Amino acid sequence: MSNNNLQQKLLEKIERGLKDLDFPVHPKTLYEPYRYALSVGGKRIRPMLTILANGLCGGDLDDALPAALSIEILHNFTLVHDDIMDSADTRRGEPSVFKKWNENIAILSGDVMFADAFQKLNFYGHNDSYSKEEYVSIHDVFTRTVITVCEGQALDMEFVDRKDVDHNEYLEMIAGKTAALLSGALEMGAISAHASSQKREELAELGYEMGIAFQVQDDLLDAIADPEKFGKRPGGDIFEGKKTYLTILALERANDEQATLIKDTLDTENPAADRVDEVLDIMSNLGVLDDVAQEIDQHYQKALHLLNKFESSEYKQELEKLLIFLRNRDH
Ligand code: IPE
Ligand code: IPE
Ligand code: MG
Ligand code: MG
Ligand code: MG
Repeated sequence: MSNNNLQQKLLEKIERGLKDLDFPVHPKTLYEPYRYALSVGGKRIRPMLTILANGLCGGDLDDALPAALSIEILHNFTLVHDDIMDSADTRRGEPSVFKKWNENIAILSGDVMFADAFQKLNFYGHNDSYSKEEYVSIHDVFTRTVITVCEGQALDMEFVDRKDVDHNEYLEMIAGKTAALLSGALEMGAISAHASSQKREELAELGYEMGIAFQVQDDLLDAIADPEKFGKRPGGDIFEGKKTYLTILALERANDEQATLIKDTLDTENPAADRVDEVLDIMSNLGVLDDVAQEIDQHYQKALHLLNKFESSEYKQELEKLLIFLRNRDH
């Protein structure tokens, strides 16, 4: 991310907040993986969204921090469990938690992270400037977000064993597993600024568009990104037999021979690397990679359009920059 003062200031605020999280040392097998998951880095997009939404709605940025930390802890919890579900050995270029310790440890430290994320929201119950309704709303957005993410993850896993997943089903799945969290991050930021329900809804929708773009792009990067930068093996989704936007579109366009090769590769446990490369070549030849890139762009455009409804401010400018940065990201 290119540096500038506001962005730098906000990132520092987030990092300081995460560093100051005061969790016990004992039991080690519970808290070390927790600390590790948060310290290995990450782009911190979601807490940034929460704080920017607060600024965009004219709030006090400090009031957004508990919600921002809550969302980042929640996000990292979902990744700790997701890596078990996806048998993904690395995360952000480092061993994933279940690989570094073991599955049981990853499950339990994920659970404590989830509870801790919830606990951060107590701030809004103890702070007199928030009405009971606002406190309930922030909880409600958070819990609905978690439920929607679980639904998305369940569909993601169901799709592995299905041969006929279509476009719309895929969109429903990523709306859950990814867009919900970005949308929730923005909406919670709006509530922390006492925003009107209209602003809340507009930001939630912006997060949805951004989230769809973000996940389709994650699928694209999974196939074509430089593994050094992306921190995951290239074609990892194909190795895992995951249905992504790329494989769904490729299957819709493929001739019989190509379709058989794609399906067989997805169905094979640990396919050979050259088979995975062949699938990637087919995707490229069918124009899938280009069309997917275009679709990503359309969703970012919708998000930028929604952002334009807000008054000019440094936060608006920053969110616009973040959207453009994400559109051009390579990791
Ligand atoms: C990864 O999200 C999970 C997805 C929804 C694709 P990020 O790419 O935001 O992960 P970090 O936190 O920056 O590593
Ligand atoms: C992650 O989706 C979504 C959640 C953790 C809820 P992916 O499985 O596609 O994310 P990566 O590719 O592992 O980051
Ligand atoms: Mg995964
Ligand atoms: Mg997954
Ligand atoms: Mg992925």
